[in-house]
Amino acid sequence: MLGTSIEVVQGDITRQGVDAIVNAANSSLLGGGGVDGAIHRAAGPELLEVCRALGGCPTGEARITPGFRLPAKWVIHTVGPVWQGGGAGEDELLRSCYRRSLGLAVAHGIRTIAFPSISTGAYGFPVRRAAPIALGEIARFLTSHATIHRVTMVCHGLDTYRAYLQAAEELDA
Ligand code: APR
Repeated sequence: MLGTSIEVVQGDITRQGVDAIVNAANSSLLGGGGVDGAIHRAAGPELLEVCRALGGCPTGEARITPGFRLPAKWVIHTVGPVWQGGGAGEDELLRSCYRRSLGLAVAHGIRTIAFPSISTGAYGFPVRRAAPIALGEIARFLTSHATIHRVTMVCHGLDTYRAYLQAAEELDA
């Protein structure tokens, strides 16, 4: 698709040498556990300071900050839906997280970006349902935005990695 690739890797998103990494945050943007905690630990205290000034972020939307001590220049914070069984618009809110994050990346001239598996940890979104939603939305966005050169899905656990690999194969089928 327009020379852009979606890579699926297993690893730690805080160590990705890309222009921007995406954080699976909560609506306060004041940090937490999981990937949010890892990103704040790696970025250092300045990240929390600038996040505090942002005044939060609604579910499905995204905000951008510098990456400070991270290898990545930027952090795009997005707030995924909490899984409530699938009848509360969770799928569309998850799509919105990826779309809005990529939209911010384009607006900031970002060419390489790494995502974690948004909402599939503490927020309980089933990963086998989330993976095709995530990759499908990324692929759809990339068909009309050529400035993004590489999107990497960074999976922390093996089960997540397997789910996204399978979704990537189905996407290319
Ligand atoms: N690199 C990449 N992925 C990671 C890392 C890491 N260093 N650490 C955790 N993950 C993965 C988890 O294994 C999971 O697959 O990120 C995915 C998302 O899980 P969570 O971090 O729990 O995020 P989420 O499910 O969106 O819940 C968000 O958790 O940490 C709090 O403040 C956050 O309240 C918010 C909620």
